[in-house]
Amino acid sequence: MSLITAPFPLARSRRLRRTDWLRDMGGENQLTVDDLIWPIFVREGTGVIEPVASMPGVNRLSIDEAVKAANQAAAFGIPCIALFPYTEAKDKNPDCTEAFNPDNLVNRATRAIKAAVPNIGIMLDVALDPYNSDGHDGLVRDGIIVNDESLMALEKQALVQAESGADILGPSDMMDGRIGIIRHALEANDFTDVSIMSYSAKYASAFYGPFRDAVGASGALKGDKKTYQINSANSDEAMREVARDLSEGADMVMVKPGMPYLDICRRVKDEFKVPTFAYQVSGEYAMIVAAGQNGWIDQDKAMLESLMAFKRAGCDGILTYFAPKVAEMLNGN
Ligand code: PBG
Repeated sequence: MSLITAPFPLARSRRLRRTDWLRDMGGENQLTVDDLIWPIFVREGTGVIEPVASMPGVNRLSIDEAVKAANQAAAFGIPCIALFPYTEAKDKNPDCTEAFNPDNLVNRATRAIKAAVPNIGIMLDVALDPYNSDGHDGLVRDGIIVNDESLMALEKQALVQAESGADILGPSDMMDGRIGIIRHALEANDFTDVSIMSYSAKYASAFYGPFRDAVGASGALKGDKKTYQINSANSDEAMREVARDLSEGADMVMVKPGMPYLDICRRVKDEFKVPTFAYQVSGEYAMIVAAGQNGWIDQDKAMLESLMAFKRAGCDGILTYFAPKVAEMLNGN
């Protein structure tokens, strides 16, 4: 790219920064409600709105409350929600059988929301961690997170999720070969229109801490996830993961966490030119809210700036716990 600029004082950058209307007119990127996917935590019960301590403003909702939240999201114009189950210890075991129970919490929630709010998209996570007494995303055998046996469980999980009416499956488990297995299973079972947003560039990260608390997995997790999630030192490796997932049938790809990995977002968009999403994860949310609550930053401004950064980095959309708040602000309420 050749940059042509006149020398000062012929060129003065500040001429175009002078007023709101000038700055808006020349803005290169825009954040809109269409860009937002709202992750929601569901739990058993009725009429339950239970705060997540490490994520102020985020609650675990019983299914009836999740239906209300979905209704509100649709009213705000949020295109899609992502449901995550808070699973009680009694529903966790080493074989993760609750993951492929057609009537498990997240599948019941999906059916209830689909019936009540047909116009909102529903995305579900394909990974075993909420159901695993070992807290891992794959099955653990003799202390090893086993790949190929996990694929069989993930395939069954994906099918009951598709059956419940999920529009998008988000495999977040990072087992090798999962996208191909899930895509073939969907094709073979007449779920040809269910799309896959692969958590392709998912890093082993400390920023997931509050989420594990929210889904009740922190107590269960033994060790860390470094044998399957990507090393934060690597960038080329993420490109290989994206290439492989696309070749196995992923429709969209995701980078996760978000803000510490904006370089990865930009590389994915530039190199693959496919629908690219980022997950502004629980730890990123918690940091912005906590600093805001302490009066150390302006929470709303930091929130908007952090989300604009994803657009600038090439993302088409963002999973963010701020979704309803941002939507309200963008809608001018
Ligand atoms: C589980 C999963 C995680 C997140 C989404 N799906 C946590 C993990 O991998 O341990 C994190 C989301 C967040 O932190 O907001 N497969």
